[in-house]
Amino acid sequence: MLLHIPQVLTPDEVAEFRLRLDGGDWTDGRETVGAQGAKVKRNEQLRDNSPLKAELGDALLRALKRSPLFFAAALPRRILPPRFNRYAGGGEYGFHVDGAVMSLGGDDQLRSDISCTVFLNDPDEYDGGRLVISDTYGEHVVAKPAGDAVIYPSSSLHRVEPVTRGERIASFFWIQSLVRDDAERRMLFELDTTIQKLTMDGADQDAVLQLTSVYHNLLRRWSEI
Ligand code: NI
Repeated sequence: MLLHIPQVLTPDEVAEFRLRLDGGDWTDGRETVGAQGAKVKRNEQLRDNSPLKAELGDALLRALKRSPLFFAAALPRRILPPRFNRYAGGGEYGFHVDGAVMSLGGDDQLRSDISCTVFLNDPDEYDGGRLVISDTYGEHVVAKPAGDAVIYPSSSLHRVEPVTRGERIASFFWIQSLVRDDAERRMLFELDTTIQKLTMDGADQDAVLQLTSVYHNLLRRWSEI
């Protein structure tokens, strides 16, 4: 499921992030990829051990906690500390698939079920730089305003088009979901959204309770803790 999550960060927060990132410790984005990704990746990232990366990453995770839409759709179990990237001067990231298992430091690992991009500047500030996600329904082209996020299955092939004017700045990270399977997660999300709508519309309480019970029993069946 490809989902747009508007306004994860407020305009003030985006401005603060941008200011801090302008003075950031940027390095070659190939620092964090394997041999396959290194062939097609041309961008910059904040250094993985940079204190600024940790600080802004924590701020972004706190901001995400305000988003019920993110939680309903992703059902996060664990989240990799957010990274930050910058594309300019023709920089791009050709078609690739994200690694399935990521290190959280030491022996700790995370399975990447969902990929998330949070846009930190507006698409009119650059040419190109659109996120292209390829799935069984074809290619989806994504460019969202600063502060907005998109989530999509980590299993999909995706790329970032060359940035031919200006620069494109974003945060990206991976989520291990309580529910590994994208189709199951999607059904839970749709059921959850429908229950909320029925509740808002003042639907019969017993029927809403019954549906809520179905939601939790499916989550109990499908979730991994
Ligand atoms: Ni990727």
